[in-house]
Amino acid sequence: MNHPKDLPPAPRRGRFVTFEGIDGAGKSTHVEWVADWLRERGLTAETTREPGGTELGERLRELLLQSAMGLDTEALLMFAARAEHLRTRILPALEQGCWVVSDRFTDASFAYQCGGRGLPRERLATLESWVQGGFQPDITFLFDLPLEVARQRIISHRQLDRFEREQADFHERVRLAYLDRARRSGERIKVIPADQPVDAIRTILAGHLEKLLP
Ligand code: TYD
Repeated sequence: MNHPKDLPPAPRRGRFVTFEGIDGAGKSTHVEWVADWLRERGLTAETTREPGGTELGERLRELLLQSAMGLDTEALLMFAARAEHLRTRILPALEQGCWVVSDRFTDASFAYQCGGRGLPRERLATLESWVQGGFQPDITFLFDLPLEVARQRIISHRQLDRFEREQADFHERVRLAYLDRARRSGERIKVIPADQPVDAIRTILAGHLEKLLP
């Protein structure tokens, strides 16, 4: 499986579910939960993340989160990791009927590298179509919440990476770029108000996923 164009159509393949949001939005807690929820319904499901998800991708992740680099380098490395992830992991799993749940995917590049850093959108659109063709997640959950709440969550309990150390205006631009992408996505991106109890969020996620079940 080298290219998304070779993927069989749904429902003969697994579905691709992605989670997005600004740092501190709380999405990661739900990734494993969704995979378990799918398994309880008799499906196979695996979880992954971006940047990362493969041996090479995890090495690129370390560089991306820690080393200073130019804007173009950052965007190209994100898509290099993604190309590897798609070709060696995501597409083969989907082809075999396995659902793949990923903590971030290409929407993050539009939010962080375009919205946050200011890279022109056409550049990323070129990389997106090179690496993905027309391939997109089947559904994307965008965890949205006010910046101040997200900041409190990350500052209180972890060592910050290169993106998390950015100023508030960077994160505000990321948030707005995500919301803009959601508006342009048609039905694919579901905006989840993330400032509510975990159980309430799970009920919303399950409601959306039920509609995708075979
Ligand atoms: P994140 O997913 O927040 O992991 P953790 O919960 O361990 O901090 O970290 C990944 C960071 O990478 C996040 O700050 C967003 C950034 N990123 C981009 O800038 N562009 C991308 O295309 C992707 C996938 C991530």
